[in-house]
Amino acid sequence: MNRLALLGASGHGKVVADMAQLLGWQSVQFFDDAWPSFASNCHWPVAGDTTTLLAHLQEFDGVLVSIGHCATRWQKQRTLQAAGAQLVSLVHPRACVSSLATLGVGSVVMAGAVVNVDAVVGEACIINTGASVDHDCKLGHAVHICPGAHLSGDVAVGVCSWIGVGVAVRQGVRIGAEVMVGAGAVVVKDVSDGHTLVGNPARPL
Ligand SMILES: CC(C)(COP(=O)(O)OP(=O)(O)OC[C@H]1O[C@@H](n2cnc3c(N)ncnc32)[C@H](O)[C@@H]1OP(=O)(O)O)[C@@H](O)C(=O)NCCC(=O)NCCS
Repeated sequence: MNRLALLGASGHGKVVADMAQLLGWQSVQFFDDAWPSFASNCHWPVAGDTTTLLAHLQEFDGVLVSIGHCATRWQKQRTLQAAGAQLVSLVHPRACVSSLATLGVGSVVMAGAVVNVDAVVGEACIINTGASVDHDCKLGHAVHICPGAHLSGDVAVGVCSWIGVGVAVRQGVRIGAEVMVGAGAVVVKDVSDGHTLVGNPARPL
């Protein structure tokens, strides 16, 4: 039986677990730092916290961090990497990832999402439901492209940035690290590190 450990028993974690089962993982077990007060994530047990997972890494054929918050996801992935965890990436059977795109370890591509030719997606990224990352885009580590957000061709997004639900980004735009783009925004100009933007055209909040 192949066994997958997911760190982060969130709503996002449930979607990842459901996808993992669809992909043929026979056992999916959650770990979460809210354990033991949080002992199940609906259909899946929560078996312990990060410390428990680190003590049992060798029992799992794959490990993935399923935490929505970008900086936390990245920090947990690096902890697991340093401990020698067998990190995996998951691509939903109804997502479309070009064979000429690159997907970093620990990243997930959810149902209906598209990653096009020559795109580079870093480690621990989330390309969420129905989002698209077009040709030649470059995503740093731990980026989250939320459901229904669209990056035109040749867009760059820095480490730990969050591109909100339904956002559109014009081709060639450079978005820095730790940027938050609010739901529904239209980004037409470069964005420097650490900014939060909303609206059409997107402006600092
Ligand atoms: C942009 C965002 C981060 C701001 O959150 P916040 O700091 O808690 O801000 P608030 O909700 O207090 O709103 C502050 C102001 O910004 C406005 N605002 C918030 N989000 C906005 C958005 N997406 N577009 C336009 N205006 C927005 C509010 O109406 C409010 O305006 P007011 O001061 O005139 O009343 C958040 O609203 C957002 O859009 N998050 C992304 C959500 C998402 O994509 N989720 C996907 C999960 S998978």
